[in-house]
Amino acid sequence: DLAVVRTVADLRRAVGEFRAAGRTIGMIPTMGALHAGHTSLVQGALDHGDVPVASIFVNPTQFGPNEDFAAYPRDEAGDFAKLEAAGCRIAYAPGVGEMYPSPQLTTATVADLTDGLCGPFRPGHFQGVATVVCKLLMMAIPDRGYFGEKDYQQLQVLKRMARDFAMPIEIVGMPTVREPDGLAMSSRNRYLSPGERKTASAMYRELTALAANVRDGHTPCAKAAAESAQALLAAGFDKVEYLDVVDAESLAPIERVAGPARIAAAARLGRTRLIDNVAV
Ligand code: PAJ
Repeated sequence: DLAVVRTVADLRRAVGEFRAAGRTIGMIPTMGALHAGHTSLVQGALDHGDVPVASIFVNPTQFGPNEDFAAYPRDEAGDFAKLEAAGCRIAYAPGVGEMYPSPQLTTATVADLTDGLCGPFRPGHFQGVATVVCKLLMMAIPDRGYFGEKDYQQLQVLKRMARDFAMPIEIVGMPTVREPDGLAMSSRNRYLSPGERKTASAMYRELTALAANVRDGHTPCAKAAAESAQALLAAGFDKVEYLDVVDAESLAPIERVAGPARIAAAARLGRTRLIDNVAV
C-alpha cells in the first residue's frame, strides 16, 4: 500500500514506523509526470532491500525565468497509481509552502562540477537542485537516495554534495531507461511533435557512435564531437547547446580518452530541450 503524505511531520512519522520495524529507507526524489525511468529507481530501492519513499515536487527554484515551470506536466493521481504499482510505500507530495515556508536564505552550491555542460546554459539550476535535494534528504533522512544517470551532471553534483556535507546517505546512480529507438525517457518527451519524436532518436545514435569513435584514446575528442554536433543538426535538431567528452567524475573536458569518460549533450528540437549522455 502507498501512503500519501504532504507534510514533513507526516513524512517523518511514516518513515519512523518502517524504521521501528527495522527497515532501511531508500528515497527517490522526482518532479512527477512519472515514467518507467522513475519507476526503475523505485525498483532499485526494492532490489537493495530499502523501503521506497518517493517525493513529487516541481521545484520552482531550479527553473530559469524562460523555462517551462508553469507548463511542466503535472499528473498527481496518475503518479500515485504508478508509484503504488511499482511497489513504492510512501509518496511525499508537499506544497510549495511546506517546502519553502520562509524565504530560503541558505543554499547548497557545488563548485567546479557546475562550470560546464548544462551549468552555463541554466544559471542557478544546480543550486536550486542541490538545495531542494538537501532539504528532501534532511526531511526523510533515508539510508540511500536513488538518482538516474539520465541527468549525469546532476548525479555527480549530488554525490559531491552528500560527500562534502558528510551526509549519512549514499547517493546511488541508476542506468538510463530508454525507448526502443534509444531515446532516453523524459517527462519532457511529451512536448515533441510526431516528426520531432522521430528526429529525437538521433541524439542517442550520435552519442553512442561518438563513444565508439573516441574509445581508442587516439581520436581527438573536440574535433570528433564537433562532427557529431553537425550530424545532430543535419538530422533535424535546431540547436546543439553542447556536446562534450568529459572525465566521468570531474566532468572536465578531455582531449583524448585515457580513463572513465562520459559523452553528454543538450540540444533543442522545436521548443523542447533534450539532454542525454553515454559512458565511453
Ligand atoms: P525528474 O526529472 O523528475 O527526475 C527524477 C529522477 O528520475 C532523477 O534522478 C532522474 O535522473 C531520474 N530519471 C529521469 N529520467 C530517467 C530515465 N530515463 N532513466 C533513469 N532515470 C531517470 O531530476 C529531477 O526530477 C529533479 O531535478 C530533482 C532531483 C527531483 C530535484 O528537484
